[in-house]
Amino acid sequence: MRRSGMIALTLAMSLGAHVSQAADAGQQQDYGKHICDSKCAACHGVDGKGNGPFAANLVKKPSDLTTIAKNNKGVVPVMALEALIDGREEAFFHGTREMPVWGHELRAEAGADWPAYMGVSFNPEVFVRGRIMALIDYIGRIQEK
Ligand code: HEC
Repeated sequence: MRRSGMIALTLAMSLGAHVSQAADAGQQQDYGKHICDSKCAACHGVDGKGNGPFAANLVKKPSDLTTIAKNNKGVVPVMALEALIDGREEAFFHGTREMPVWGHELRAEAGADWPAYMGVSFNPEVFVRGRIMALIDYIGRIQEK
C-alpha cells in the first residue's frame, strides 16, 4: 500500500473510532461491532457490504462480510475466519493480500511487555484472540439469512 494510502486509511479508521465511541455512549457496548467500526468499516463499510470509503483505493474489492454464511452452506466458518483475519500463519489470498494482517496489528496493540493485571501476567496472544473472536461473533450476527 502506498504511504499516502496508509495515512488516509489511518485517518479513516480513527474517524470511525470516534463516531462509534459517540454512538456507544449510553448504550450497551457491542464490543465486536465497536472493533469492526473502528478497524474494518473503512474498507468493508459500516454495513459490512464492502463499500467503505477506503475501498476505492484498493485493487481488490473488500469482501461482503454479510454473505459469508450464505456462500458457505449457511455456516459461519469460525476457525477459517480466525486464521484469515489473524493472517499471520496462512496465505489465504492468491497474489498480494490487501486485507491487513490483523494478528500483527493487534499483537502490537497488546504491547511487547503486557503489564500484569492484579498480579496476574497476561499472554498478549489472549488479547489478540479475544478481539478476533469478538469480531467473528459480530460478523456472525450480520449475516444475511
Ligand atoms: C485496507 C482495507 C481493509 C480493511 C481495513 C479490512 N479489510 Fe478485510 N478485506 C479487504 C479486502 C480487499 C479483502 C478481499 C481479499 C483480498 O485482500 O484480496 C478482504 C477480505 C476479508 C475477508 C474474507 C471474506 C471472505 O468471504 O473470504 C474477511 C473475513 C475480512 N476481510 C474481514 C475483515 C475484518 C474483520 C476487518 C477488521 C479487523 C477487515 N477485514 C479490515 C480489505 C480490508
